[in-house]
Formats: sequence, C-alpha cells, structure tokens
Amino acid sequence: MTPDADYVHAAFSRIAERYVTVNHVLSLGVDILWRIRAVELVADWKPSTLLDVATGTGDLALDIQWELPEVEVLGVDFCEPMLEIARRRGLRHTLCADAMHLPLPHSSFDAVTTAFGLRNMRDYRAALQEFRRVLRPHGHLLILDFSMPEGIFAGLYRLYLHHALPRLAGILTSAPSAYSYLGESIEQFPRCETMCHLLMEAEFSNPVYLPLFGGIAAIYYAQV
Ligand SMILES: C[S@@+](CC[C@H](N)C(=O)[O-])C[C@H]1O[C@@H](n2cnc3c(N)ncnc32)[C@H](O)[C@@H]1O
Repeated sequence: MTPDADYVHAAFSRIAERYVTVNHVLSLGVDILWRIRAVELVADWKPSTLLDVATGTGDLALDIQWELPEVEVLGVDFCEPMLEIARRRGLRHTLCADAMHLPLPHSSFDAVTTAFGLRNMRDYRAALQEFRRVLRPHGHLLILDFSMPEGIFAGLYRLYLHHALPRLAGILTSAPSAYSYLGESIEQFPRCETMCHLLMEAEFSNPVYLPLFGGIAAIYYAQV
C-alpha cells in the first residue's frame, strides 16, 4: 500500500484539533521521550537552520525551538489545519507545502528532521532525495517514526495496533479509519537495515538506526 496524499491530507485535517492529546494518550506519553532523544541528537550537530518536515501541530519543531533557541526552525506541512495549531502553540516559522516538492532552494538547511511524517508520504525514495536537496553539504537528517518490534512482543503489539488502537482512537476522535490507516502504514514502512539502505541509495552517508521502546519506534540519522 502506498500512502495516498489526498487521503492523508483529509485524515489529518479531520483529526487536527485533537491530534496532540490523542497522540500522547495512545502512546502513554512515551512519544514525548522519543522527541527528547531526537532533540538531544540535533543539539550535538549544532545547526543554525533546521527544517522540520511534516511538522503537523509542531511537536518536534516546538521542542527544538524551545530547547535550542539559537536554531532558526521552519516547520513545513501540507495540511493547513495542522499548521494553524502549530502556529497557535508558538511555532514562529511555518510553510504550507508538499514535502515531495519543497519550494525551498538547494542546500539551504543545516539539518532536516521529520517525526512520524515520512511514513505518510507516497514515495519514500523521492522524499529522501528532496530532503537531501535542501540540505547543505555535511548537513544532517533525522527521521523519527514508528516501527515493528521483533519476536513475541510483535504479536501483542499487532493486537494493540490493529484492534485496540483504532477502537480507542475512534472514541477519542470520531475518526477510527485514520487510526486503522496508522496500523497499515506502520506495517509497510521500511525498517532497520532496509531504511538505512534507502538512506544510502539517496546518497546519505553513515546511516544510524536507534530502536526505541522495544522497537515500536526508531530514530534514523544520516549525513549528506
Ligand atoms: C503524524 S503527523 C506528524 C506531526 C508531527 N511531526 C509530530 O511529530 O507529531 C504527520 C504529518 O505529516 C503531514 N504530511 C503527510 N504527508 C505530507 C506531505 N507529502 N507533505 C507535507 N506534509 C505531509 C500531515 O499533514 C501530518 O501533519
């Protein structure tokens, strides 16, 4: 299944107002810890300019803006209702645009981040190439997204993902289909070595994979 951009756009427009709360409830708050780890990694790179792609309601971009005030952060998303909330929450610079065709010059950012965004894009390879295009030489890319754990935990996690989560989210958002889509998108999203391979195909170097919380999420980072 390739994510359909119209479906993704409509789904996030529908859940925008409740996205932040529902996210923290469904992840029992651990997504906050994953973003803290992401910000720590970004801090080590000491970027001056950073593009947060698929910024949504701005969760990661706002953490970076608050923790690293010296960094100029631009959040880009193609869903205006999500961006509107990001602005309301204090994200200073936003741009409504498709991540697959960024209206931004070549080599214009020291770092690109994307949290729970790449998985929703229709062509991962093309998206990675677009991220690389806007990065300066030696710039850094960080991807935070869900993954699938291995072993016995995988079975339990699939029960949660495909059965409990859409029901619970349906009650909280009145949009259960958006969360059935979440499970399907996680299943088909490249993980571990496959993602590192995609990064190298897009001409990123030294890709690193950090599993989070038993492998239900992962951070990948690499350099131009
Ligand atoms: C799950 S939210 C993630 C939001 C935020 N990064 C976070 O960590 O909570 C996914 C976001 O990706 C955006 N998105 C998906 N495909 C996109 C694309 N092709 N271009 C721009 N934004 C996109 C959606 O509009 C949505 O706001």
